[in-house]
Amino acid sequence: MDKIVVLDCGGQYTHLIARKVRECGVYSEILPVDCPPEALRGAKGFIISGGPSSVYDAGSPQIQSGCFTLGIPALGICYGHQLMAHALHGDVQPGDHREFGPAEIEVLDSSRLTKGLSAHEPVWMSHGDLVREPPAGFRVLASTPGCRVAAMGDDARRFYSVQFHVEVTHTPHGKAILQNFVHEICGCSSDWSAGERVAALEEHVRKAAGNRRVFFFVSGGVDSTVAFTLVTRALGRERVHGAYIDTGFMRQGETREIAAAFGALGVDLEVIDASEQFFRALDGVAEPEAKRKIIGEMFITVQDQAIARLGWDDNWVLGQGTIYPDTIESGGTKQSAKIKTHHNRVGKVEEMIAAGRVLEPIAELYKDEVREVGRKLELPTELIARHPFPGPGLAIRCLCSTEDGASTPAPPVNGYDAARLPIKSVGVQGDFRSYKQPTLLSGGRRDHAALSEVSGLVTNTQRESNRVTYLLAGPAPTRAHRAFLTRERIALLQEADARVRQWLRDEKLSTAVWQFPVVLLPIGNGGETIVLRPVESEDGMTAHVAPLPFDALDRLTARLLDLSAVDAVLLDISHKPPATIEWE
Ligand code: XMP
Repeated sequence: MDKIVVLDCGGQYTHLIARKVRECGVYSEILPVDCPPEALRGAKGFIISGGPSSVYDAGSPQIQSGCFTLGIPALGICYGHQLMAHALHGDVQPGDHREFGPAEIEVLDSSRLTKGLSAHEPVWMSHGDLVREPPAGFRVLASTPGCRVAAMGDDARRFYSVQFHVEVTHTPHGKAILQNFVHEICGCSSDWSAGERVAALEEHVRKAAGNRRVFFFVSGGVDSTVAFTLVTRALGRERVHGAYIDTGFMRQGETREIAAAFGALGVDLEVIDASEQFFRALDGVAEPEAKRKIIGEMFITVQDQAIARLGWDDNWVLGQGTIYPDTIESGGTKQSAKIKTHHNRVGKVEEMIAAGRVLEPIAELYKDEVREVGRKLELPTELIARHPFPGPGLAIRCLCSTEDGASTPAPPVNGYDAARLPIKSVGVQGDFRSYKQPTLLSGGRRDHAALSEVSGLVTNTQRESNRVTYLLAGPAPTRAHRAFLTRERIALLQEADARVRQWLRDEKLSTAVWQFPVVLLPIGNGGETIVLRPVESEDGMTAHVAPLPFDALDRLTARLLDLSAVDAVLLDISHKPPATIEWE
């Protein structure tokens, strides 16, 4: 099997690069950028990712020069472009010159990298520094008005690099550039397919488990379902114990539905109602990372209690449905900044991983690859096609506040009134975590293009905000009240979420969104506020607002305002980045 290595410089898009390479039918793997050159042996080429640093920062990711003397082709992207220029003695200009968002390159010179492209191509830029002079042996292949060396190449050594992001969908022909690199330049054939990996994955499970048993938490989501199924097929049912925890933060009716779905597959799942323990542990906690840590560790506590009940000796491992991107979003690769603690990666789990006691059969796969494996395993479509649901469940969609507060005015923008909400949410900006007050817009034009534009304008120009919402119905909520994760608030959120899902089915819009979080804010005029977060995405790493029709949204807000505790309904109009999908 041909292989391309992606050298990780800590960018949030590193996995996206690897995934796109696999979409070209070529297996790809991620390694830290400072790995020894020998680690690249056997690869047909390597790609250096983007990252949040400047090559001039102390401690910034650097590449060993030996990687460039192996005789294998290389492609640098964004920071990787600058790093290649720097390492091969070109000139990188440290800059306050920031360029974020869409740009247009002019292709100046033909090359194998740009084969098939037009003279002008839209691309996506996100950088501060830039390459002023390419290293000796390189030609400038493309420029933008703000960036002369937007792409460069050295055909003799087969080294190429681009300042823009070829891996994101906002660079429409980015995939063609990647294809040129892996097929034309590296000579890879298309011989990778996740669906063909079932036997190899099962073999891996058998090797990793040895003679040990496996304790597996199943959430009903596609990842844990596929991982659990692989493990039971590989080891046999008697060696695997599947448990489903009702944390109290699941969706309405979900526990019943999942137990029934697994029952139909002939799997006897233990259902553990641990909701009382979860609510008690989270009482009085508002800070998002604190909530996540408590939830992750509570899973382990419940696991220990279950193991004690089973009377197992020490000869077992924990099975998890962790997938590849889960590891980077929580700072899992060495270079990346921590955005959120994934529930599969809290302290106690990390200790178990270090001790070789965690089995993660699909940790190298991406979501769409997991679905492909699920189809091969003949799992029911309703399990495979479910919208992704986070492990911590509604707990990260029910926002909490330790104090009362009030909105603050913000300058009107593009004809919309604006205010800063008296609560914070998590975002990801320039590859780093942010925790800031969202902006609330009201009035103005109800038009998705106009809202998308104003949303970008606010987050690009007003550094105090990482997220923008639009008032759909009800009076603008202005006062925050002290509130935590209680059964009452979760029941309200469950009901609102159930109404949204029913409405999606009624309006035949379920497939128009990749995911649709419904969020509860302790803000209102006595009651609470609901935020709708419909997104389009490929894998959750980046996302766009799904532009649902406003007349349909009006029918939804009527159903939500019918709940007496709901004062207002907002639409989240931010893309990711700068906002994350979940509010936390
Ligand atoms: P964010 O909010 O980081 O979410 O933009 C990206 C995607 O990941 C899901 N998500 C999680 N999934 N455990 C999971 O299994 C988690 O702890 C977790 N946190 C976020 C989120 O729903 C979205 O699809």
